[in-house]
Amino acid sequence: MTCPQPLPSLNVHTLMPVTERPEQVFVRGEGAWLWDAAGQRYLDWLQGWAVNALGHCPPVISQALQAQSSLLLTPSPALYNLPALQLAQALCGLSGMDQVFFGSTGAEANEGAIKLARKWGRLHRAGAHEIITFENGFHGRNLATMAASGKPGWDEMFAPRMEGFAKARLNDLDSVKARLSQRTVAIMLEPVQGEAGVRPASPAFLQALRALCDEQGLLLIFDEVQTGCGRLGELFGFHHFGVRPDILTLGKGLGGGVPISAVLAQAHCSVFEHGDQGGTYAGNPLMCAVALGVLAEISQPAFLAQVRRIGLQLQRGLQALSEEHGLGEVRGAGLLWALELGQDHAPALVRACRARGLLVNAARPHCLRFMPRLNSTAEEIEHGLAVLGAALAAQHHTSMAA
Ligand SMILES: Cc1ncc(COP(=O)(O)O)c(C=O)c1O
Repeated sequence: MTCPQPLPSLNVHTLMPVTERPEQVFVRGEGAWLWDAAGQRYLDWLQGWAVNALGHCPPVISQALQAQSSLLLTPSPALYNLPALQLAQALCGLSGMDQVFFGSTGAEANEGAIKLARKWGRLHRAGAHEIITFENGFHGRNLATMAASGKPGWDEMFAPRMEGFAKARLNDLDSVKARLSQRTVAIMLEPVQGEAGVRPASPAFLQALRALCDEQGLLLIFDEVQTGCGRLGELFGFHHFGVRPDILTLGKGLGGGVPISAVLAQAHCSVFEHGDQGGTYAGNPLMCAVALGVLAEISQPAFLAQVRRIGLQLQRGLQALSEEHGLGEVRGAGLLWALELGQDHAPALVRACRARGLLVNAARPHCLRFMPRLNSTAEEIEHGLAVLGAALAAQHHTSMAA
C-alpha cells in the first residue's frame, strides 16, 4: 500500500500545456496499478500509452537498470557497446530483418525509416522520394512524421509543410494505386491504426500492398511503434497479419517503460552509410540492456499465447458490455482494443472510470481504447470490465435523466 504523501508546493503551469491532464499527480506504479499522491489506487489500462508491456516497474527492468548503470551508461554512439550489439542481433533473429538503428522515440524511428526510404530512392529509383501514407494514420510529432501522419490539418500546423507524403485511405487499394507516380518510393502504414481508434488494416489489404510494392519496386514500411513487441499477441504485428515489410519501426513496448526505439531493415534497403543517421543516445547501453530483458520475456511463445488468451477475455467482456448498453463495434487484437460508443461520450466516460479507479483512453470522442499490460491477469481484466460496466450504467442513467 502507498500512504498519502504530502506534496511539496507544485505549480502545474511550469509545464507547457501541450495536453489536457487530470489534476492528480501520480507517484508510484507497480504491475497493473498506479497510485496518486492522495493514495488513490488505479487499475491502469493506459500503461504509458501501450508502453509498459510488463506493467509498472517490473523487476526485469529495475534489475537491468541497476546492473547496467554501474557498468556503462553512454560510451558514445560512435563506439560499439555490448547491449546494443546483443539487442540488434536478438531483434534481427526474431524479426528476420538484417540491420537495426536504435533511437529513443517512435517518431525518431519513423523519421529514420523515412530517411532510409528516401536514400534508397535516390540510389535505386532515380530520386523517387514520395511515400504513400494514410488518412488518420499517426507516426509521431516531429515535422517529418507529422507530415506523414494523416490527422486532419497536421501537415499545415507548423507551416511550411514538409513535402513528400501522399495520403491514401486504409483498406482501399484503389486509393493507393491512384497516388502512385514516378516519384513514389514507399508505402508506409500502421498495420492497426492505434491513435485513430484501433482501426486494423485487413490482411487482404496488407497482402495486396505487399504484392503492389513487389510489382512496382517500392518499399513497404510498417510502423509498429504501437502494434509491435507483443501488443497484438504476436511478437510483431506483421506476424499477426502474415505480411513482411521491408522496413519495420518499433518503440513503446520495446523498452517496457524506458525510451528506446528501432528501425529495422532488410539488407536490400539497408542503405545508410557513415554520416547518414545518428544521435547522441542512439543505442546507449542502458536502454538497450533494459530492452534485452523485456524482449527475453515478451518473445516467449508461452507469454504471447497468454496475451492472446487474456485478450480474448477482454474482447468478450467488451462485446458483452456493448450488447448490454447498446454500443457499437469492438475492434482490435491481442491487448489493444477499442469500443465504439456511438456517441461522443468517451471523455466523460474516461472521467467516470478514473473516479472509480480505472484509467482508460478516449482515442476519439466516440471511442474508448484499452491498452492493459501484456502480463495482465484474468482477475485484473474482470475487475476493469466491472468498473467500466458501472461507469457505462451511470452514464446511461445520466443520459436518461437529461
Ligand atoms: C503508430 C505510432 N507511431 C509513432 C508514434 C510516436 O511515438 P513517440 O511518441 O514515441 O514518438 C506513436 C505514438 O503513439 C504511434 O502510436
